[in-house]
Amino acid sequence: MSTAVSAPPALEVRNLRVTVGDGRAEAVHEVSFAVAAGQAVGLVGESGSGKTLTCRAVLGLPAPGVAADADALALGGTDLRGLDARGWQRVRGSRLGAVFQDPGSYLNPALTVGRQLAEPLRVRDGLSRSAARRRAVELFDSVGLRDPEAVYDRYPHELSGGMLQRVLIAVAVSGDPELLVADEATTALDTVVQAEVLDLLARLRAERGLGLLLVSHDLAVVAEATDRLLVFYAGEVVEDGPTAEVVAAPAHPYTEALLTVAGLVGGGSGRFPVIPGRPPSPGADLPGCRFAPRCGYAVEACSLAPVALTSRPDGRTVRCRRSDELVLSESDMTKHQEVTA
Ligand SMILES: Nc1ncnc2c1ncn2[C@@H]1O[C@H](COP(=O)(O)OP(=O)(O)OP(=O)(O)O)[C@@H](O)[C@H]1O
Ligand SMILES: [Mg+2]
Repeated sequence: MSTAVSAPPALEVRNLRVTVGDGRAEAVHEVSFAVAAGQAVGLVGESGSGKTLTCRAVLGLPAPGVAADADALALGGTDLRGLDARGWQRVRGSRLGAVFQDPGSYLNPALTVGRQLAEPLRVRDGLSRSAARRRAVELFDSVGLRDPEAVYDRYPHELSGGMLQRVLIAVAVSGDPELLVADEATTALDTVVQAEVLDLLARLRAERGLGLLLVSHDLAVVAEATDRLLVFYAGEVVEDGPTAEVVAAPAHPYTEALLTVAGLVGGGSGRFPVIPGRPPSPGADLPGCRFAPRCGYAVEACSLAPVALTSRPDGRTVRCRRSDELVLSESDMTKHQEVTA
């Protein structure tokens, strides 16, 4: 079903704000991005930087005490803002899929995994019992579960973590969604199984034009599996650009620090995945750049006034007042390592 005019992106998010706690501290500040059909966009940043809050806002699943609003939040051109709980449920059951860490906790231990996929198919698509079973077996097969007929009759505790994640991916894609949100979905898996699940996600993108929003604390995973990268720091996007370019030549000192400690650039070992110092907590009153207190390149002006996210001619956006003068070369990276060591 193609049209002459360009199709809307699988997901469009404009100026997403997420507040938490009684004081309504802003934990996600004006985050904007889009995921095109078939594209994979990765969110990276330290623990607490707002990745999960962003994913949950996109899924209409804010935790208690969390509130989200945005200037635009659209799935395939459909405005999601203002949906009630039922509306969100309907969207999540079809056009929007999600997989998280710990797949076992999303399945009912008392039911076979096949029934847990087939029942929603019967309800949603009005399939007969036998047709739903056939469809479920097909879906299990399509996510690479060997012997899908036998898997259908297994209970969750009889399957490995990798198999459970494939089951959940089958559930997530059963309604042929436009977007799949995967928040640390491969984190608990060993590296071989993790690579297999990432391959599966890449195949589903290619075959179904599925957009993917991928979160992992493992930068190597995100670097490998995404087309575009958003770097979060303390609830803000500090850099956004094509993954290969961002990884090859980070434009924001925080991106550079993150890649350095992950061992992806600058000769870091990746054995101590910590940037010295701590990010500010949500709502912390910092007049200037939120990374300045930890930044090896910061000058006085950085801490005085907020820094806007600025577009660069190369298609990247960066939130750093010094990004034009700082060309983060290999030698600069070594310097940064020394400064932050
Ligand atoms: N339900 C909540 N109530 C209050 N504060 C919250 C809540 N959920 C998250 N926060 C705060 O919002 C910030 C962002 O949290 P979020 O879970 O999005 O981080 P994250 O980037 O996913 O981190 P991680 O890599 O550890 O998963 C954190 O400071 C966190 O403490
Ligand atoms: Mg998280």
